[in-house]
Amino acid sequence: MMRIAIPYIFYGVLLLVFTTVGCKQNKKESQSEMETVKTESNQNPIEETIFGEMPDGTKVKKFTLKNEAGMEVDVITYGGIITRWTAPDKQGNYEDIVLGFDSLEQYLDGSPYFGALIGRYGNRIANGKFSLDGETYTLATNDGDNHLHGGEKGFDKVVWDGVAKTIEEGATVELTYTSEDGEEGYPGKLDVKVTYTLTNNNELDIQYEAVTDKPTVVNLTQHSYFNLSGQLSEPVLDHEIYLNADTYMPVDGGLIPIGEFREVAGTPFNFKEPKPIGGEIEADNEQLSLGGGYDHCWVLNEGEKDFRLAASAHHGETGRLLEVYTNEPGIQFYSGNFLDGTLPAKDGGTYAKRSGFCLETQHYPDSPNQADFPSVRLNPGEMYSSRTMYKLSTK
Ligand code: GLA
Repeated sequence: MMRIAIPYIFYGVLLLVFTTVGCKQNKKESQSEMETVKTESNQNPIEETIFGEMPDGTKVKKFTLKNEAGMEVDVITYGGIITRWTAPDKQGNYEDIVLGFDSLEQYLDGSPYFGALIGRYGNRIANGKFSLDGETYTLATNDGDNHLHGGEKGFDKVVWDGVAKTIEEGATVELTYTSEDGEEGYPGKLDVKVTYTLTNNNELDIQYEAVTDKPTVVNLTQHSYFNLSGQLSEPVLDHEIYLNADTYMPVDGGLIPIGEFREVAGTPFNFKEPKPIGGEIEADNEQLSLGGGYDHCWVLNEGEKDFRLAASAHHGETGRLLEVYTNEPGIQFYSGNFLDGTLPAKDGGTYAKRSGFCLETQHYPDSPNQADFPSVRLNPGEMYSSRTMYKLSTK
């Protein structure tokens, strides 16, 4: 995350922009009951459909972003969730590469954050408590004793305003949401904007922005579960992962970092050279036992540029290669350990244990309580700005 000091006038303009975006959206919604809208009539129209209805009647939209290569990404306004993402294998066959569900009801019934935007705080805050300027804030403890992924109703469970448009770089959808002061226990009213852009180079570029009216903490991320084999319900243990990190953060029994940066060299946490997820996941290792597999934050090496390659995943048989670029200091590599074969898969089966992996770019877990970690504080007059790009190719 970068926090940029900005003059108040700009802050005002930004809020105005967010508000205008929101108003436009509402207007559009009330105007139409249509099933499919072509938002732009150029070569790659963005399709807008209704994905479902919330219990209170709010309509959830689905935007299908397309590029010239043939890639498609479906994004819904509930949770900003990526519900489908097609990518070619080395023969050029497009298949869905992300876990998810077919209907809104299934997401509402309980989803392990499939494809969702995560906020205000990605990952855990110990005991659901932190202090800012001498004041202690209490958050929901929705993961044992700890707070996880923004609480009971994080950004993954709210309906965002969404506006799609075609810009020079590709097809975009801009999602905006205002989190009220005190929501889920966090101080400050936070205006958030997340922009997904699908480029013609098979990149999904994600830009996160936020402004607040009181000091608060922010750590936004994206929780897509990938399975590059196209066999969404099958384990991903054969995928080779690369992580651009010399150290990772060991955790305690509640998966809270103990505050140490531990060398990966000589441990199952070493992904400095690509290695199958399944290679050492069953090794006799205390940290693997605590995580039930990989569920840790790696400390990304700094590069010449802030925005650098953080991770990659390769599926040999199909040749699909996913690369992750970010300006964040950390990445949570989660090997889908909590999936247990009970959730219905889009391809007909059920999601087996470890049938998807997540590469969540972020600041470190529990940063509000760990003085040695890079700060996640956002002040009024600053803009939170974070960028992550997922790039698909074959090799
Ligand atoms: C993150 C966490 C995991 C788990 C998943 C969702 O990756 O670190 O422990 O909560 O989200 O199930």
